[in-house]
Amino acid sequence: MKKYFLLFLLFTIFSCKEEVQTSTEPIPVKGLITENAMVVSARKEASKVGIHILKKGGNAFDAMIATEMALAVAFPYAGNLGGGGFMVYRTEFGEIGTLDFREKAPIEAYSNMFLSEDGEYISEKSKLGGLAVGVPGTIAGIFSVHEKFGTLPIEEVLSPVIELAEKGIVITEQQSERLKKFKEIIFETNGDHSIFTKQYVEGDTLRNIALANTLKRIAEYGRQEFYQGETGEKLVNYIQSKGGIITMDDLDAYGTEWREPIVFNYKNLKIISMSPPSSGGICLAQILKSIEPFPISEYGHNSLKAIQLITEAERRSYADRSYYLGDPDFVDVPVDTLISDAYIQSRMEDFTFDNATSSQNLSYGTIPGYESEETTHYSIIDQFGNAIAVTTTLNAAYGSKLYVRELGFFLNNEMDDFSAKPGEPNMFGLIGGEANAIVPQKRMLSSMTPTIIEKDGALWMSVGTPGGSKIITSVMQTILNVYEFKMNMQEAVNAPRFHHQWLPDVVTFEPDVFSKELFIELERKGYTIEEKPSIVIGLVDGILVLEDGRLEGGADHRGDDTAVGF
Ligand code: DON
Repeated sequence: MKKYFLLFLLFTIFSCKEEVQTSTEPIPVKGLITENAMVVSARKEASKVGIHILKKGGNAFDAMIATEMALAVAFPYAGNLGGGGFMVYRTEFGEIGTLDFREKAPIEAYSNMFLSEDGEYISEKSKLGGLAVGVPGTIAGIFSVHEKFGTLPIEEVLSPVIELAEKGIVITEQQSERLKKFKEIIFETNGDHSIFTKQYVEGDTLRNIALANTLKRIAEYGRQEFYQGETGEKLVNYIQSKGGIITMDDLDAYGTEWREPIVFNYKNLKIISMSPPSSGGICLAQILKSIEPFPISEYGHNSLKAIQLITEAERRSYADRSYYLGDPDFVDVPVDTLISDAYIQSRMEDFTFDNATSSQNLSYGTIPGYESEETTHYSIIDQFGNAIAVTTTLNAAYGSKLYVRELGFFLNNEMDDFSAKPGEPNMFGLIGGEANAIVPQKRMLSSMTPTIIEKDGALWMSVGTPGGSKIITSVMQTILNVYEFKMNMQEAVNAPRFHHQWLPDVVTFEPDVFSKELFIELERKGYTIEEKPSIVIGLVDGILVLEDGRLEGGADHRGDDTAVGF
């Protein structure tokens, strides 16, 4: 009986029309709404590949694998084989968990590897070229997902991705601009030309045959192709030829980790987010729990009082981040205390609406007994009720800029997420200490915050974003926008965002959308305002489960992000 029902369900699904909403249309105020399933990602091609897998009867985990790989084809700026990421999931049965496929420091890495002989931080070394590369985790990640939750054979899941790489993707306007901006540095870093050093205009097709061939070998030989086989050897040779220290032993030693998520309540929401080595879940919990006692919806969206409250909560949380957070396999992170009500209450004790706290005068909190620009996000909800939130990255745009031409993909520069020297900011201005120092095989601290939320016990939202240090605060504002300020999913994604991270002691605003009067009032209270012309605060993608059970997508119009569903 169950089998016939399943067949009927599959038939109904196959016959459903696929719906697409892209962000190239005029900025939508309402997201795509569908009955059964949805994928929202940074590119239409990738969302479509994910939906294709769901329509074949695959689940959200099969679709995750396909979407992750399709992003490497369609959005090589951040989508990757040469990077890493995190997945948060909630199954149709309500089981929750996370997968850590973050990169690791090579075995030969050492704490001062980015310092000169006089101890000066040579910032370029952790950002460009071979030494910047962490041991990639993405391929191990998709195989861990497949092993635990996959239902379709890996060849079937990868087949539409291989086809996409062979047929090519259509270059968008944003993509042609990005390639124009980066082609010179990609050429300089690699020392030769490739498909990524050409100039494309909107509408051109970009085929990546080398990547199609790599994916074919991975489909045939599995995970070991990347970590032990021909692909691994070519990869290691290339990294070493560019001054890197990754060896076959590093690839061989790489493993993913299934970790307990950070779980906390905000009013009647149960928020499930990423645990260390990401700071995302802990900081999200600290900020939201600091805000919870205040009637923020009464203050109004992006009102003076709401901005002050959020900024002060962020300030305290990012100060803690810099001191306490690192890879839990190497340092003892006092997770329970950091997100406990008593600790958070004590951190907010000196908060006042009268004036700004100075970051100079604020340090991390005291815990007795304690010693010690590019990413992409996608959300998927399938027709069975499984939900995933995945944030994956090469770190900066095109990572270290190293492009392994023979294999068709870019390599990360995730080593910059370590604290190269105490007090020295990384590319996101984040400052860290001992907890995030470089140690062989350690994972660098992240801000990625893939998040799934239940409301009154039922699945309610899957959300996340790129944006470096701004990830946590963008995810947090999107949640508040829907929950407190009663926006729909798309409006919540569209809404203007701002950001604060303790140091530097400035509040960064999206340009031209906040009023000058607001800035004057904030400045009067002691806040330093930054409104950079080109700054993008995250590219949030999310899916909201509506009260009638349908799904609403929120695809960020700041990028080419697209919701596809049926
Ligand atoms: O893991 C992190 O926090 C960073 N590597 C993320 C980088 C990122 O979001 C860049 N995108 N704008």
